[in-house]
Amino acid sequence: MSVAILGSLNMDIVLSVGHLPRPGETISGAKLAHFPGGKGSNQAIASARLGSPTSLIGAVGRDAFGETLLAYLNESGVRTDAVARLEGEATGQAFICVARDGENSIVVVPGANHAISPASVAGAAPGKHRVFLSQLEVPVEAVEAFFSSPAAKAGIRILNAAPSVVAARSLFGHPDYLIVNETELAAFAGAATPLDEPAEIARLARTLIARSGQAVVVTLGKMGAVAVTWQKLLEYAGYNVKVRDTTGAGDCFCGALASALDSGQPIDSAMRFANAAAAISTTRPGGGPSMPTRSEVAEILE
Ligand code: RIB
Repeated sequence: MSVAILGSLNMDIVLSVGHLPRPGETISGAKLAHFPGGKGSNQAIASARLGSPTSLIGAVGRDAFGETLLAYLNESGVRTDAVARLEGEATGQAFICVARDGENSIVVVPGANHAISPASVAGAAPGKHRVFLSQLEVPVEAVEAFFSSPAAKAGIRILNAAPSVVAARSLFGHPDYLIVNETELAAFAGAATPLDEPAEIARLARTLIARSGQAVVVTLGKMGAVAVTWQKLLEYAGYNVKVRDTTGAGDCFCGALASALDSGQPIDSAMRFANAAAAISTTRPGGGPSMPTRSEVAEILE
């Protein structure tokens, strides 16, 4: 089958720094680099590299960054016919600081990503897709239209509620799988961070369940991930890897989960697969370029 992803495309402008700057602090960056990024694009690259035919729906400007991003997606095997090239809009950009320990902070200038209309999404990726995945760097109304199509309703719908846009609570009834990280979980559940008690994480995750049959997945960085339903709690330990850059690790998890579900894996093995894929992505720099292949994931799972 195949995966359809509605989401953002950004050129990531990445500064390597010793530590993340504190409010009011000026620091020196060791190096500046450009990487293909954006949550939608990163997730599509992960899904395609992991073996699923993948179509991305989104928008870039008619500029050099847009050209570069489309070329990289095509090289990575992602179908981009449904990525619009908008006149008068700039391609999205993300300004990212990556610290020596791999942690990051990100400021996004959405540009064309915010010009995606609900009308442009409906029917934008024709074909028979099994999995429909989106995130929140594109307008909530566009995500609503994407998940409301008859094709999406007949498939598996996954919402990665990142970043934590409050208005997106209205979307929570749609997905079969809702994926958040710890910070997003706290924001949507109205709790304070850090959350380090597994029982408390599971309790808060259950408060986000909007209908029966839904699972909430929480990614926990080096601590791994959990999936909760009303009845069950599934826990997956993190991998002990040398972390270089965590940018896109959550996207890798989402793209990998979509790909695994698309290939017919049950949720337990899909979670293991996504957890392993995300660990690999943290060992490499950049968003899109850090996404692993299926054989790399198979190797770490052994
Ligand atoms: O999730 C990581 C991504 O968030 C980066 O690639 C950046 O573009 C922002 O969208």
